[in-house]
Amino acid sequence: MTFVEQIDKQKLPRHVAIIMDGNGRWANKHGKNRVYGHKQGAKTVKEIVKISGEIGLEYLTLYAFSMENWNRPKMEVDALMALLVSSINSETKELVKNNVKLLSIGNHDILPKNVRKKLYDAIDATSKNTGLKLVLSLSYSAKWEILEAVKKISKQVIEGKLDIDEINENVFDENLSTKGIPHPELMIRTSGEYRISNFLLWQLAYAEFYFTPKLWPEFTKEDFLEAIIDFQRRERRFGKTSEQVKQKS
Ligand code: IPE
Ligand code: IPE
Ligand code: MG
Repeated sequence: MTFVEQIDKQKLPRHVAIIMDGNGRWANKHGKNRVYGHKQGAKTVKEIVKISGEIGLEYLTLYAFSMENWNRPKMEVDALMALLVSSINSETKELVKNNVKLLSIGNHDILPKNVRKKLYDAIDATSKNTGLKLVLSLSYSAKWEILEAVKKISKQVIEGKLDIDEINENVFDENLSTKGIPHPELMIRTSGEYRISNFLLWQLAYAEFYFTPKLWPEFTKEDFLEAIIDFQRRERRFGKTSEQVKQKS
């Protein structure tokens, strides 16, 4: 049976989030510079977006650049921004053709102007699409996002639009940049690192985690499908007992 056939389409996670890590180490392993690794990583992105659409995934969030990544050497940051622009240039048509709707979360105010414009043009160009929602986490930090939500909610309280006692999980969700997006059910991190690196702290509260030693440029669609198959074998208990969960289904 192929990997695709092993997937239970009725039990697909609605939302998969990926920390795409290991481009630099992959390049090092192949005697190339880090930027070459990022370019190779962009090819993996293409493949994973394609298979996600094919299996009918609703949401795919990709951690492309963290707020902490601004602290990398300028040469690498510039190269990553240039790669982002060139990828948007070469892929927007394909996204439109494949009915993919592009969204993005993160602190976009600190993106270079040309990058921000490209990003928003691509978001506009795909806004009518109804297939896979592809969420790029760009210049993203979960702590930043949570603080922004706190500020927005505080403002509503001060303005008398919201009562303190009305603040609940739904209100909080509505004030995050992921407003309207279901929380990821599966979070994959490549490259053998076991950490969350300031990614979707609130939204991953009950996600299933899948870690693989594969470096992002060598991560294949089969690896991706394997992660989903692994997810489908797990029992999600949400605090209940296994017996309770089995009774329900
Ligand atoms: C992930 O690969 C891409 C970004 C964080 C932009 P890395 O560049 O972090 O690769 P490693 O972790 O150094 O191997
Ligand atoms: C996390 O990877 C961010 C992205 C994949 C964009 P990093 O390589 O920046 O994470 P740390 O620094 O190893 O935790
Ligand atoms: Mg890394």
